[in-house]
Amino acid sequence: MSSAKRILLIIGGGIAAYKCLELIRRLKERGHHVRAIMTKAAHHFVTPLSVGALTNERVFTDLFDLDDEHDIGHIRLARDADLIVVAPATADLIARMAGGHADDLATAVLLATDKTVLVAPAMNPRMWLNPATRRNVTQLRLDGIRFIGPADGEMAERGEAGPGRLVEVPELVTTIEAALAPATAKCGPLAGRHVIVTSGPTHEPIDPVRYLANRSSGKQGHELAAAAAHVGARVTLITGPVSLPEPAGVHVVRVVTASEMLEAVKASLPADMAVFAAAVADWRTAKPNAEKIKKSTSGTPPMLNLIENPDILKTIAQSAKDRPKLVIGFAAETLDVLAHAKKKLKSKGADWIVANDVSPATGIMGGDNNAIHLITGAGIESWPEMSKADVARKIIERAAEQLTAKRTAAE
Ligand code: C5P
Repeated sequence: MSSAKRILLIIGGGIAAYKCLELIRRLKERGHHVRAIMTKAAHHFVTPLSVGALTNERVFTDLFDLDDEHDIGHIRLARDADLIVVAPATADLIARMAGGHADDLATAVLLATDKTVLVAPAMNPRMWLNPATRRNVTQLRLDGIRFIGPADGEMAERGEAGPGRLVEVPELVTTIEAALAPATAKCGPLAGRHVIVTSGPTHEPIDPVRYLANRSSGKQGHELAAAAAHVGARVTLITGPVSLPEPAGVHVVRVVTASEMLEAVKASLPADMAVFAAAVADWRTAKPNAEKIKKSTSGTPPMLNLIENPDILKTIAQSAKDRPKLVIGFAAETLDVLAHAKKKLKSKGADWIVANDVSPATGIMGGDNNAIHLITGAGIESWPEMSKADVARKIIERAAEQLTAKRTAAE
């Protein structure tokens, strides 16, 4: 990130508060200036000492601290930031925000600010799904507050799962930078370009309750969309069913099946570049059953009549009309990664293939990191393991260079 930004992080009192330490480190690493406010409850989960050591700043806690009021005060804290991030946002903090309370430093700053506020909730799924929280979130959205997450998953409480986890730090960083981006995006290297990204799995119905799918989380595709938007592109993200937050500043088209994904891609053309990161199901049932298929009394399982899905990457890469200047495909393999990927570059007609090993032992499928090989007409580059957000940034950086080179060559 070239221009450092001032982020005011409000840390609420939840078990996920520990993730803020990592968040601060990542934001600082990327050159941002971070100031933190901790609510009283947050002190039970992280100490001001550790937060202060990472921000390199004093940590603000009290509304009526005389020193603070003279020195900086809640109005200046609110105004001095480019973006306010509330993470983790508890149900109580969200309720107090929705009610316009200002009886502690965190809520007073939130009431006094005219800056973008990004809220990352974290709470028990029942609290998140409670009608009171739903009402408060709806109200805050109407008031222009942005939300990221919560993510689905296991809770700290044993045996509890559902929506309520704080989204992971890499996603938080991407969303924070996207929220900060509008000021810089118009002049980024992809300004004025249209980028299509496909992401996630597709679900192919068997009957009204069952479907064929795969384990793709959509993380890499969503990061690519966010990274392209961050450097100025107009991005259309066409995604299968995922439980990820929508990247900020991106036009999202939600689809379910491969056929719908192909139609959505065609409808989004023309584009300067298309990145096909979706893990499209290779097959679908020829005719999904209208009713739920029942178990037969004889114990004979039903036969599924599968047919091949359209190959979206191949269709677009080989189309004579409206082919994007740069078409990038992915190759997720568990064996002979490079050999398969090289074949795919030719057979699909892509300009680049991003190949990775998705054997369960690598932890890449659904994980936050990726180790990729970039296969282009010029050869193969193997990149070291890094976060999916960093992979996305580097691919987009390279793609922007390539598009600029193509434009210069054409002139
Ligand atoms: O053939 P395979 O599925 O391994 O190819 C992977 C690449 O092709 C990915 O970029 C994926 O998004 C794309 N693909 C597609 N439509 C399909 C199958 C794969 O766009 N039906």
